[in-house]
Amino acid sequence: MLEQLAQLETEALQSLEEARTPEDLDRWYHAYLGRKGALTAILRSVGSLPPEERPTVGQRANEIKRRLEAAYNARAEVVRQDQLARELEAGALDVTLPGRPVGPGHLHITTRTLRQIYAIFAEMGFQVYEARDVETDEMNFGLLNMPPHHPAREMWDTFWITDDVLLRTHTSPGQIRVMRERYPEPIRVILPGKCYRYEQITARSEHQFFQVEGLAVGRHITMTDLIGTLTAFARRFYGAERRIRIRGSYFPFTEPSIEADIDCILCGGKGCRVCKYSGWLEIAGAGMVHPVVLSNGGYDPDEWSGFAFGLGVERPAMLKYGIDDIRLFYSNDLRFLHQF
Ligand code: PHE
Repeated sequence: MLEQLAQLETEALQSLEEARTPEDLDRWYHAYLGRKGALTAILRSVGSLPPEERPTVGQRANEIKRRLEAAYNARAEVVRQDQLARELEAGALDVTLPGRPVGPGHLHITTRTLRQIYAIFAEMGFQVYEARDVETDEMNFGLLNMPPHHPAREMWDTFWITDDVLLRTHTSPGQIRVMRERYPEPIRVILPGKCYRYEQITARSEHQFFQVEGLAVGRHITMTDLIGTLTAFARRFYGAERRIRIRGSYFPFTEPSIEADIDCILCGGKGCRVCKYSGWLEIAGAGMVHPVVLSNGGYDPDEWSGFAFGLGVERPAMLKYGIDDIRLFYSNDLRFLHQF
């Protein structure tokens, strides 16, 4: 029996040397170590040997099994290396081929629109100031002249994080933050950023969108400055021929409050589907900073005055590029994004 084992080992090691491919290796493994392999058969038969032979034969057979397994692993590594070398030689892998191109990304349409807006206001001396998306109830409402239960809060329903922390509904709370940071300097800033509202999502309204707030605080700032600034912006952004219309409006944080329209960029004021046959398109809510808001920011309203406005970002981009569904801005559809 021991002799038979020794012979089996010699034979197995010899034939392993001849294995050249993974298939050869598999065949060899089945022949010796697999479930029906020659060595496995011997190991199984140990139990039927006379008791005095069992320990020696069993021990030898197990030693051989370990050696054959080690030899198998070593050979398998050699076969792998050889095969790789052969493939490289045969050119299966041409390392000189140019790599697959990685498509260069580009800026999102919203980012590009924001940057156009920054550039226009930069020329008028406005700095960019970024405030936070997560705000306190006090900043978003209270300090903007909307104490708890003020009915105007109805215009800005939002997502609440706790009882007094929320996602800002407009960029206006940034007015308070800049004023408190800059006092007693005069201020001329724009505050861009994401705003959130608890709204039904439709082709015209999203629950998240961008605004650009504007704020100027100084010694003799008047409504004329506000109208002049909005007119200059509209003509740079929508075209030099634009006309502006100012309507009275209401916001708790401005007094007086206005809304600014431009003549429809599609029909020039004649009336069409885009302007809902009115000839005008709304571009901003605005007004003179309310005395209460000025003092909440630290500025004495008897000495200081200021104007503020809030511009949309997606809607102007929609008008300019003829996009008919605001949901496209947030749907990450490359077929849409690649167009801009
Ligand atoms: N915060 C207002 C809104 O979101 C817009 C606004 C900004 C109005 C500044 C007046 C002054 O509707």
